[in-house]
Amino acid sequence: MQVSFVTPGTTGPGALVVGVTAGGPLVGAAARANRETGGALKRAMDVSRFTGKAAQVLEVLAPHGSKASRIVLMGLGKADRLDTNAVERAAAAVVGKLMSGSEKRATFAIDVPPRAKISAAAFAAHLAFGAVLCSYRFDVYRKVKDDEQQTLKELVVETKAAASARKIWSDLSALAESIYFARDLVNEPANVLFPDEFAKRATGLAKLGVKVDVLDVPAMKKLGMNALVGVGQGSAHDSRLAVMQWNGGRKGQQPVAFVGKGVCFDTGGISLKQPAPMMGMKGDMGGAAAVVGLMRTLAARKAKVNAVGVIGLVENMPDGKAQRPNDIVKSMSGQTIEILNTDAEGRLVLSDALWYTQSKFKPKFMIDLATLTGAILIALGTEHAGLFSNNDELSKRIMQAGREEGEPVWRLPLGDAYDRAIRSKIADMKNIGGPNAGSITAAQFLQRFVNGVPWAHLDIAGVAWQDGETKPLSPSWATGWGVRVLNRLVADHYEN
Ligand code: BES
Ligand code: MN
Ligand code: ZN
Repeated sequence: MQVSFVTPGTTGPGALVVGVTAGGPLVGAAARANRETGGALKRAMDVSRFTGKAAQVLEVLAPHGSKASRIVLMGLGKADRLDTNAVERAAAAVVGKLMSGSEKRATFAIDVPPRAKISAAAFAAHLAFGAVLCSYRFDVYRKVKDDEQQTLKELVVETKAAASARKIWSDLSALAESIYFARDLVNEPANVLFPDEFAKRATGLAKLGVKVDVLDVPAMKKLGMNALVGVGQGSAHDSRLAVMQWNGGRKGQQPVAFVGKGVCFDTGGISLKQPAPMMGMKGDMGGAAAVVGLMRTLAARKAKVNAVGVIGLVENMPDGKAQRPNDIVKSMSGQTIEILNTDAEGRLVLSDALWYTQSKFKPKFMIDLATLTGAILIALGTEHAGLFSNNDELSKRIMQAGREEGEPVWRLPLGDAYDRAIRSKIADMKNIGGPNAGSITAAQFLQRFVNGVPWAHLDIAGVAWQDGETKPLSPSWATGWGVRVLNRLVADHYEN
C-alpha cells in the first residue's frame, strides 16, 4: 500500500472517507460532502442506524454531485475516547470494507475532533497504520481469484500536520513491515520453514545493519546446549541458534535481550500429540518470529539501543534418533533435566537459549516469548498473553506497553510452592509439573535458567495465531503478536 500525507483539499478520484463522532453532527469534510450530494449522507445515516459509533462504517456508492466513486462514513466513537488504538481500528474497518470492492485509491479527509486524546499528526499516521496492518494477506501458495484481487493500492491521508505525520509514519511503517515479516514466518508451513531456512531469513536482517550469527549443532554441542539439541535430534532438519545484534546505542552499553522459542514444528516427539492438537503447530515458532520482527523494527527505525535477539530453532519429531521420556540431559547451565514428556520441548529449547544469552551478553534484562503451554489458553483465552517475571518494574512497563499497543498481557504468579512441582528424584529437575498450573510450572522451569537477571516470560500460545474469528488489525492466521508491545517497551524506556 502506497501511503501519502497531504494538506486538506487535494482530494482526487476514488473513495472519500469522512469521519463522524458518536451521535455527532456532520462537520468539516463530512458536512461538505453532505452538501455536495444534496444531503445524501444525512439521508443514508437516517435509514441505516449509522450513528458514528467507534469503527462503524457506512458506504454511499456513486454519490450524485460528488467526484468520489463512493463516500465512506467512518465512525469515530466518542471524541474523548479517541486514541491511537481506536483510530487504527476504525481505519481497519473502513479499509476492510473497501478491499472487498474494486476501489484503487482512498482518501481520508477527517479532522481530529476537539477533545480527542490524540494529535492531528498521530491521528493521520495511525489511520495509515491501521489500514496497512489490516490489509496484510498471505497468498504465497494460492491462486487469488479475480473477484478477490486486492485493487486498493493508494492511501491518501489529508492532514493539517502532514510534515509531522510523515515523521511518525516513518517509524510506524518500519513497524508495520516488521509485523508483516513476523506474520509471514508464522504462516509459512514447516516443510518450507525448517530451522536452517528460518535462520537464513533472520540472516537477511544483515542488510539493515543487524549482525547475525548462526550456530549449528556442533557449535551448540561444544557450548553444552544438550537440552536444545536433544529436542531436535529426531528431526531430519538440523537445529540452529540464531543470534541477532542491533547496536544502535552507545558503545559498550549493556544490551536488552529478547529470546524466542522457535519450534518450527511440534509433533510432540515420542510423546506424540493427537491429530487435533497437532494442527497449527507450524506456528510453534511464533516467539522466535516476534523476536526477529522486533530486531527488524529496531534496525529499520535506527533505534538508539543495543539489543540482542536469540532464537532457538528446532523441529520436534518422533524418530529412531528422537529423545525418549526418561532421558536425562545436561543443559548448558550444568543443571540436569529429566525428560518425562517430550512434548514439553519449548522450555528445553529456552533453557539453553536463556542461559547462553545471560552468560554471553550480560543484558539489562531478558524477555522471552514462547508459544509454551496449552494451559495459558485455558487461563487467559486469546485476549491476553501470559506474563511471568522476577521483576515488578519490568512487568509494569510491559503491561503498560501492551495496553498502549493493543497487545495486552496479564501477569500470573511465580513462587517456590510452584517450583516444587518440577523437582525430580533422579535429576536437578523434570520437564513437566503435575496436572495443575501448567503455565506457571513451565515458567518456574525457565526461571531456573535466568541466573538472577531481570527477566520476563511471555506465554503467547493464545495470541500468536487465531483459528476462529480474526481480529480487525490482524486478518491472517498469524498475528505477529509481540513485535508491537516490545517495540513500544524499548522506545519508551531503553533508548538513549
Ligand atoms: N507448543 C505447545 C504448546 C501449545 C499448545 C501452543 C497449544 C499453542 C497451542 C507445547 O510445546 C506443548 O506441547 N506443551 C504441552 C506441555 C505439557 C506436555 C506439559 C501442553 O501445553 O500440553
Ligand atoms: Mn510441545
Ligand atoms: Zn511446543
